[in-house]
Amino acid sequence: MVRSLGQEPYFADRLTKQDAGHGVLLVAWQSGVAVGDVYVWLAAAEEPELRARLPGVALLTHLEVAPWRRNRGIGTELVWAAEERLLAEGHEQVALGVGPDNPDAQRLYQRLGYAEWPYGEVATTNVVYHPDGRQERQREMCRVLVRKLG
Ligand SMILES: CC(C)(COP(=O)(O)OP(=O)(O)OC[C@H]1O[C@@H](n2cnc3c(N)ncnc32)[C@H](O)[C@@H]1OP(=O)(O)O)[C@@H](O)C(=O)NCCC(=O)NCCS
Repeated sequence: MVRSLGQEPYFADRLTKQDAGHGVLLVAWQSGVAVGDVYVWLAAAEEPELRARLPGVALLTHLEVAPWRRNRGIGTELVWAAEERLLAEGHEQVALGVGPDNPDAQRLYQRLGYAEWPYGEVATTNVVYHPDGRQERQREMCRVLVRKLG
């Protein structure tokens, strides 16, 4: 996974979290090569607005497809796989944050039935995992998109 997608400290952190029951890391593989991933955040959201308005909601985070494998439906498949799993586990809705300057991702989510919530953008913390182990926390405003499952 790290060989093709990099971000070793990020994946190490998410696998540790997954072991603790915090969420689930889904990875798309092609011929033994990891080409995309999404982390389904099942624990309480870090953002107070999300906790207050969508208590217990699952979040799709860090959806990414390797640049050389984009525009082939892998991002769509990852979102569908996450939704299918959540639905099977009894979740009624799913949410995510997307940067206002990310039209590719916004188009994808819109096509898949995600709609922006009416409460405005939310400040999120994006953690950048540097190769030397440093973690840098960056504040980022995001649009919140929600989809009812089932
Ligand atoms: C956003 C992202 C995950 C989308 O992944 P992807 O695999 O390219 O997504 P898809 O292939 O399912 O859809 C992308 C486009 O390819 C098109 N497509 C899908 N399958 C296709 C196929 N077989 N042939 C041609 N086009 C296809 C889709 O219709 C879509 O078109 P659009 O550009 O008009 O929206 C990817 O661009 C990415 O990793 N971006 C950087 C990280 C990021 O911003 N993540 C989102 C965080 S919120």
